[in-house]
Amino acid sequence: MPSVFIKTYGCQMNERDSEAVAAQLLAKGYSLAPSESVADVVLLNTCSVRDLAEQKAINKMRNLVGTARSEKRDQIVGFLGCMAQSRGRELIDRLPDVDLVLGTQKFHRAAEYLDELLSGKREKIVDVAPEAKSEAAIREHLLNGSARTSVSAFVSIMQGCNQHCTFCIVPATRGEERSRTIPDVVAECRELAERGVKEITLLGQIVTSFGRSEKREAWQAAQMLGNQAFPVLPDGGADLPLNPLPAASPPAPTRPSSPFVQLLDAVHAIAGLERIRFTSPHPKGYGDDLVDAYARLPKLCESAHLPLQSGSDRILKLMHRGYTREKFLGIIRKLRRARPGIGITTDIIVGFPGETEEDFAQTLSLCREAEFDNAYIFKYSPRRDTPAADMPDQVPTPIREERNHRLLELVNDIAARKYDAFVGRQVQILVEGPSRKNAARCTGRTRCNKIVLFDGGDRHRGQLMDVKIERTGSFTLYGDPAVVNL
Ligand code: 5AD
Repeated sequence: MPSVFIKTYGCQMNERDSEAVAAQLLAKGYSLAPSESVADVVLLNTCSVRDLAEQKAINKMRNLVGTARSEKRDQIVGFLGCMAQSRGRELIDRLPDVDLVLGTQKFHRAAEYLDELLSGKREKIVDVAPEAKSEAAIREHLLNGSARTSVSAFVSIMQGCNQHCTFCIVPATRGEERSRTIPDVVAECRELAERGVKEITLLGQIVTSFGRSEKREAWQAAQMLGNQAFPVLPDGGADLPLNPLPAASPPAPTRPSSPFVQLLDAVHAIAGLERIRFTSPHPKGYGDDLVDAYARLPKLCESAHLPLQSGSDRILKLMHRGYTREKFLGIIRKLRRARPGIGITTDIIVGFPGETEEDFAQTLSLCREAEFDNAYIFKYSPRRDTPAADMPDQVPTPIREERNHRLLELVNDIAARKYDAFVGRQVQILVEGPSRKNAARCTGRTRCNKIVLFDGGDRHRGQLMDVKIERTGSFTLYGDPAVVNL
């Protein structure tokens, strides 16, 4: 049977989609090739979020077809995912050797289309049409695919985004928000737990909007599972200090929780699962019910990725983000109060159109105040058909670069201090297996999502254990095996 090599660009959702395609192809008798040069089929699962990501995939494809041709190899090559969706046939017009262009609602058709191409039944296939229920089609797992996946798995709970941030191409690549049902997601998580998975990360473009566009289904699911009530916390959290305080006694009023929190409750009830994470949320989704879930659900790890994008209210408005800096800081205060020690990471765009030095200073000051454990910083990249691409006052590249550099220095400084504070402390880690770079070392993660390396072996895989942190590296903690509980 033919062998396939899949290369993935971009986010965890893309990683998950590639894994599901690989699992689907294995089930049909394909094998996974160890490298692209020996594969019968090479698929590039692409990212469109910045121009650089698109250029990388296009250059890679150019090299692939050039090498295959010069070595007179017959190789089927295709683009999957976000860039395939947004560019469609244009990719074949540009690169005529490309055989397959498969959009984001079509991953589950990969095997059927490859069979047609390999058998010569069809010469080229472009399918980027919408497909009902495709959000529930990403469900196959490759549990032995890599060290991490047998212990920790990603579960896709929804597709698409209705937020329409003015910089973002995602509504065009992933479509409108569509959520799976709670029982469907729970069934997948339960099966994973039965197969030994200890940690699940719920995935989607905006997971906190889960079920919002499917009110009837969410309602039915809520009836099946028993809706939770949650205490209402003080509004905005503005009266709370940024540093953790002992939790105050919960105020009296209660409201039914959002479909996403209902899902968290349902996944939390699965026996055998030890840890739950999710990504990526939208700050507007951190209502009191979600904050309360952090206080209530012990399996929900004390870690949150809260995309900020900018610390300036003026820019946040132009971005169509739907919150202010004060609201954002209020969420952080509430989370730190609900879960002292919570690890908080973020995404920030520098050089959005119209961003002045004063706006940028607001981002710097917010970062000083919020003290993120890590921040992913992106230079603004104009995306076609997005409102921001046509906004006035586009920021010149050297200024974008300079702001990127300054912000990076600040966030790295803060992160280094946060990591250093772990030295001497005992932390619980879930061991994912031997480190990719050094087989004598094992890698695990703290509940607040920091990577810990320690001297260990395959026997530690899947264990929850306590290690003492001895020293730090760049975004890494080193644990002492002497205090490992065996
Ligand atoms: N330019 C730069 N960064 C972007 N992101 C999304 N769109 C763009 C863009 N046009 C960043 C945001 C988002 C992350 C996944 O990518 O910070 O949270």
